[in-house]
Amino acid sequence: MQVTAQILEPFLYERIAGKISDLIEKGTLRPGEKVPSVRRMSNQEQVSISTILQAYFLLEDRGLIEARPQSGFYVRLKPRALPPEPATSHPPALASRVNISELIANIHDAVLDPEMVPLGGAVPGEEMLPVRKLNRILASLSRNADITTHLYAPVQGTPELRHQIARRSIDQGCSLTGDDIVTTFGCTEAVNLCLRAVASQGDTIAVESPTYYGFLQIIESLKMKALEIPTSPKSGICLDALEAALRKHPVKACLVTPNFHNPLGALMPDHKKKNLVELLSRKNVPLIEDDIYGELHFDGERPKVCKAFDRNDNVLLCASYSKSISPSLRVGWTAPGKYLQQVKQLKLTNTLSPVTLSQLAVAEILKSGGYDHHLRRIRRAYSSLVQIFAQAIGQYFPEGTKVTRPEGGYVLWVELPSSVDSMELYRKAREQKISIAPGSMFSAKQHYRNCIRLNCSHLWSDRLNDAIFTLGRLTSELMRK
Ligand SMILES: Cc1ncc(COP(=O)(O)O)c(C=O)c1O
Repeated sequence: MQVTAQILEPFLYERIAGKISDLIEKGTLRPGEKVPSVRRMSNQEQVSISTILQAYFLLEDRGLIEARPQSGFYVRLKPRALPPEPATSHPPALASRVNISELIANIHDAVLDPEMVPLGGAVPGEEMLPVRKLNRILASLSRNADITTHLYAPVQGTPELRHQIARRSIDQGCSLTGDDIVTTFGCTEAVNLCLRAVASQGDTIAVESPTYYGFLQIIESLKMKALEIPTSPKSGICLDALEAALRKHPVKACLVTPNFHNPLGALMPDHKKKNLVELLSRKNVPLIEDDIYGELHFDGERPKVCKAFDRNDNVLLCASYSKSISPSLRVGWTAPGKYLQQVKQLKLTNTLSPVTLSQLAVAEILKSGGYDHHLRRIRRAYSSLVQIFAQAIGQYFPEGTKVTRPEGGYVLWVELPSSVDSMELYRKAREQKISIAPGSMFSAKQHYRNCIRLNCSHLWSDRLNDAIFTLGRLTSELMRK
């Protein structure tokens, strides 16, 4: 008898796991809420940290809680199928002047306001940047800087940085040399210079639809026209539609983000990249490729770039370290293929010389080997954060909501039921101190009125959980209007 009683007696960690699962069952701890920290439970229950960890691992195995990177354990959102995915877009095949800067300027302030829950801008969460390492490198570089750091640097950029970028191009499927590269003031300057190198005022640029609003602003400022092309949230720009558009319109360049598109998260498969490069080369239309999110893949190998399939030097590849190291260093680059001389020339009149200290700091991070470790850490975090956000949207948003399934990057594109005006949602969310990016920002013709883009790069917290809950409630209210 006694033996049986001993066998049936639960282990300490099982007893603690039982306590927590009771709290979840009774609703004291709700889905998405944080479970008491391991240390707090250990003090409260007067047991060791490892016993609490064992209890939490058991609950994790049972699917009741989940660990979130650098944040602790949370009650799992009810296992519910994610909302369906949005379909391929179908913008009208019209080239149009862009008039979007005012809308974006108004929204941009809110997007960057530190008082707001930061779901609007595609700014990396501060925990995702290698701040300490960067500070150490900057301090050491400034301490040891000689006069060359303070003079003009070569217009093409510091050789150290170009060498490091070229070295990493092997992972992109290319074999660039430092001489192929021009460093720029962020990816924004790279795209700006490339567009100016291949097209002029009044020319038509084919873009994905939706597209990153920064591209639309550049196209507007250069007085060019945007031609929005249907785009799949899974595999990017539709080649049939692009080919038809090239037959009908005098397209001067095509500007795309094939790896983890902003805002759709789409990843173009290799065979499609190859076909895109060949199609544009046949038609003699330069391809400007933005690969700013290429290193932020959740699984497997880093995806190749279109430039890897470029046999005619027709691809102008652009990227920056704004999403993985620091947006404020403003270190970007382009490998503009046969347009190298034009881009160098434009760079000279645009910014003359790079900021040497920023460039040396990035070169040092790339060289020291810490960069790949850092990338692995943030890729893991983004993968789980995007999943958590998508589940929370499934939980809190009304029936009829759709959400993308990115395989990299950190933004989600949410299609709300068609009656919901995302500008109205944006205003109401702003009153609640939540920033979101309304869909109209991502289209020259301000389509996607019922869509929003959400930034999922911040560590999950009660504040974020409440913000998604509030957005879901506001969306339901707007549906009933
Ligand atoms: C696709 C894309 N390209 C370029 C940029 C801007 O890059 P940078 O800050 O390096 O100028 C962004 C920023 O959100 C982006 O999403």
